[in-house]
Amino acid sequence: MRIEVNEIDLIKLLKEISLKTKIKSYIVGGVVRDFLLGVKNLDIDVVVEGDGIEFAYILLSYLKGDIVVYEAFRTATLSYDGISIDVISARKEYYERPAALPTIEFSNIYDDMARRDFTINTLAYDVIEEKILDYFNGLEDLKKGLIRVLHPKSFIDDPTRIFRAIRYATRYSFEIEEKTHNLMKDSIENIRLLSADRIRNEIFLILKESKAKEMIDKLIYYGIDKVIFDGITLNTQHLDTVYVNLEIELYRFLVLFYYLKEKDINEIEKRLRINKIYLKALKDLVFLREQLNCQNKNIRKIRETIEETKEEVLKAIEVMEGEKAEKIIKGKLTVKGKDIENLGLPPGSLYGELMDNVFEAKINGIIATRDEEIAFLKKLIEKLKKGE
Ligand code: CTP
Repeated sequence: MRIEVNEIDLIKLLKEISLKTKIKSYIVGGVVRDFLLGVKNLDIDVVVEGDGIEFAYILLSYLKGDIVVYEAFRTATLSYDGISIDVISARKEYYERPAALPTIEFSNIYDDMARRDFTINTLAYDVIEEKILDYFNGLEDLKKGLIRVLHPKSFIDDPTRIFRAIRYATRYSFEIEEKTHNLMKDSIENIRLLSADRIRNEIFLILKESKAKEMIDKLIYYGIDKVIFDGITLNTQHLDTVYVNLEIELYRFLVLFYYLKEKDINEIEKRLRINKIYLKALKDLVFLREQLNCQNKNIRKIRETIEETKEEVLKAIEVMEGEKAEKIIKGKLTVKGKDIENLGLPPGSLYGELMDNVFEAKINGIIATRDEEIAFLKKLIEKLKKGE
């Protein structure tokens, strides 16, 4: 294995620090799994048998970069251009209640691997011995392409692992091993015990994946959507599309809830505890979608919404509705109140009406460019002045 950070061989460096400090360190989890699969992974997890924060500061003295420290778990994250290194104090976990966060106790590499979700995530590279430690047959499962839990209570302890099993199986085109699959299906109801924050986190992890559509289709197949969003229909069309300059999670979130009814917006807010930006975008989306299909359009509110809403909202509508949406979206004006003022009309209540007129002319294809918007405004103002 070879990982370079700031042109330094990370494995060699970890070995040097471990030998010097007598704190053993291991590269673990996703990065080992992905290295063996030939997949790029820039999130490096290092487990140390000792104090993760102390070790992280020593690492930082060689690698520079930024550091964020998490006192409670004695872990720290170093970050570089696109690469992050989590330094974790090896720990054991106990689940006192299903779906609650575990209690921890500092321990050794074996216990740290034993607390993990699936065998393919339990591989640890021992930097001193320069070999992979494989306590749970992770290498064999990785070769066979199997997602397997370490013990039968795994999904009960932590139902987020249901989402994770689906995510890994789909991402790598792996199978969920038969017993694991049965345990998973038996625990689906337990998803109800998870907090809104944890469910949101899992949904957004899925929405970031390149096979997001297939993953959401599987959530629906297992009835997980019913458990989380009872009665709300999810849309999986156009979910895999990526647009540069758009925030992919927001775009996909909006596409996922494209057919949401206005009365259900609060339900989504409650079930996922989305932030204000996401909530506003969702409200704008539902409003615009309903307006598109409505005879008596609220031109003023459509114009104002289109003007200030997120690009992701407009893109979701455009992708889902095609030409029909384009008609409204192309109405986005370039002229502002300042332009009306420059044309000689003092600020006042007529501004809104003038803008609505320009907007309507634009969605009806009478005008298109900024120059045409200004010319159109000019004509409207002249008419007004003549008292027509
Ligand atoms: N883990 C777990 N149970 C969870 C979440 C995480 O056991 N509910 C363990 C997994 O073994 C995982 C490790 O914690 O390997 C780190 O978690 P994360 O960074 O989410 O996983 P990665 O394996 O890095 O996965 P991804 O490639 O999706 O980032």
